[in-house]
Amino acid sequence: MSGPDETPPSALASPPLHTAVLLEAAVDGLLGEGAARRDGTYVDATFGRGGHSRAILARLGTAGRLVALDRDPEAVAHARADAQLAGDPRFSIVHTAFSELATALRGEGVTRVDGLLLDLGVSSPQLDDPARGFSFRSDGPLDMRMDPTCGESAADFLARADEAEIARVIRTYGEERFAARVARAVVARREAGRPVARTGELAAIAAAAVKTREKGLNPATRTFQGLRIFVNAELEELERALEAALDVLAPGGRLVAIGFHSLEDRIVKAFIARESREVVDRRVPGSLLATPAPLRLRSIARVRPSEADIAANPRARSAVLRIAERTDVGLAA
Ligand SMILES: C[S@@+](CC[C@H](N)C(=O)[O-])C[C@H]1O[C@@H](n2cnc3c(N)ncnc32)[C@H](O)[C@@H]1O
Repeated sequence: MSGPDETPPSALASPPLHTAVLLEAAVDGLLGEGAARRDGTYVDATFGRGGHSRAILARLGTAGRLVALDRDPEAVAHARADAQLAGDPRFSIVHTAFSELATALRGEGVTRVDGLLLDLGVSSPQLDDPARGFSFRSDGPLDMRMDPTCGESAADFLARADEAEIARVIRTYGEERFAARVARAVVARREAGRPVARTGELAAIAAAAVKTREKGLNPATRTFQGLRIFVNAELEELERALEAALDVLAPGGRLVAIGFHSLEDRIVKAFIARESREVVDRRVPGSLLATPAPLRLRSIARVRPSEADIAANPRARSAVLRIAERTDVGLAA
């Protein structure tokens, strides 16, 4: 939810909390509009501050169940400290990366679910806390890890990687045309004995290195997005979670994913297309008949925020929500 979509804190309603994006559409997509699935089991794989979780619980029946996941210990602590959530027997939360969702669900005694939600990117509290190092708008340590208990911070990466690797990360994941200039400046600073350790230092480097200015876009936006996606292996996490979803969703179970930039949405879109289209080998006439296609998903909808959604929550403007339904093809017993 940052990157080219980072919204100035002044435009956010109440900074300490996260305003959930496409809330109704996501919950409708998960539970369907009838009451039939109210007693199902659901996963909110990106708890954040629980906007979607609370809306799901409000629609669940008494026999329903919601397992929430988040890799950020602060998000998990927030859920555990919330008396309403902690006291709800239908709710549980697990500290884990969502790529490990099958293991997390097994730990909760769950083998099949009726819906899984992925609301991708970072949350407002992550972005707004300078100590987390996600934002170029306020100075802080250049960390950027969603789970600071493991992995390498952005500063540590910039301190050890060579110039070509830094440029590749910023170009590939930030889609920054001036990635090579940013990388050169980062390495020059390091060689002068002043490695980049703070968000303010990286923002200043980007401001000097990135020459073209897209309207309304801070010159550091793409550099920060690139590093954040790399440090958190966000695209690999997403690919692994989508694959895992195929194994845990029950027939008729819903996959709902909200992406905030083209790299995320491209992965979700390609995955749903791959799993929902018949595979035809055009070189072999009749191959479709000879080889049953997987068709493990049925594409249901693509939803974009309305003008009213965007007016109410400016972070929603780049959001794309996709809904797909698991078929019964290829499910292990
Ligand atoms: C956009 S926020 C979700 C906001 C939430 N839907 C709400 O209404 O408050 C994304 C959350 O997902 C978490 N997250 C991102 N990638 C993750 C991953 N690979 N595994 C687990 N959690 C992840 C982040 O730590 C963050 O808390």
